[in-house]
Amino acid sequence: MSTTATGPAYRIRSERLLLRCPRPEDAPLLKTAVDESVEHLRPWMPWAELEPRELQAKIDLLRVWRGEFDLGRDFTYLIFSDDESTVLGGCGLHTRAGADAREIGYWVHGGHVNRGLATELAGALTRVAFQIDRVRRVDIRCDSENLRSARVPEKLGFIHEATLRRRLFDSGNSPRNTMVWTMFEDEFPGSAAAATAMEAYDAIGRKFP
Ligand SMILES: CC(C)(COP(=O)(O)OP(=O)(O)OC[C@H]1O[C@@H](n2cnc3c(N)ncnc32)[C@H](O)[C@@H]1OP(=O)(O)O)[C@@H](O)C(=O)NCCC(=O)NCCS
Repeated sequence: MSTTATGPAYRIRSERLLLRCPRPEDAPLLKTAVDESVEHLRPWMPWAELEPRELQAKIDLLRVWRGEFDLGRDFTYLIFSDDESTVLGGCGLHTRAGADAREIGYWVHGGHVNRGLATELAGALTRVAFQIDRVRRVDIRCDSENLRSARVPEKLGFIHEATLRRRLFDSGNSPRNTMVWTMFEDEFPGSAAAATAMEAYDAIGRKFP
């Protein structure tokens, strides 16, 4: 067997978290995490308007995310506690940023905020994007009023490149002012993101160097 890992990264370990490619059987844990976080998510995540939803809706969603992941179309991860017993949120390396780029998205369970978890996972995903996916640019977008979210790219060394006025954000129906934070490949090596502890594994568990 070849020992060379090949992208994408299916499992990513950071200091306190496991980010893993989703599976349909994660539906009960995902539903619990979303149900417990609805009020906290609703102001910022348009999809939370429809929550709480039935378990079947989570199964259907996880099948889509898993399919897109396996086909290399888009990369949504679930955020687990270290022992994989609890879903602590969701995140992604999204391809909608265009060729040679990724957009990082994230939400963290309402009971686990302000512990640096979003910064930790976004730092790990930034490393995966530059070091494994070999993209040239990583974006993080957030509502200009979402000060908690904006702190994440700021702490990691992203640059606030623009605030787009009255744009649709994350499939929402009402236009919001959207901040665009970016990091280019030459800005990555000296950044706080590059210093994030991270180990990544491919589809059959081979570790990336
Ligand atoms: C935004 C979110 C992901 C942040 O997660 P987190 O794990 O708490 O983030 P971190 O702990 O890494 O950093 C949060 C920062 O916000 C700061 N913060 C917390 N409450 C704040 C507030 N009301 N105003 C301004 N800053 C605030 C924290 O102090 C921290 O910054 P610091 O390290 O400089 O002190 C989380 O709050 C969340 O899931 N929100 C709902 C969904 C969402 O908004 N997703 C992002 C969409 S772009």
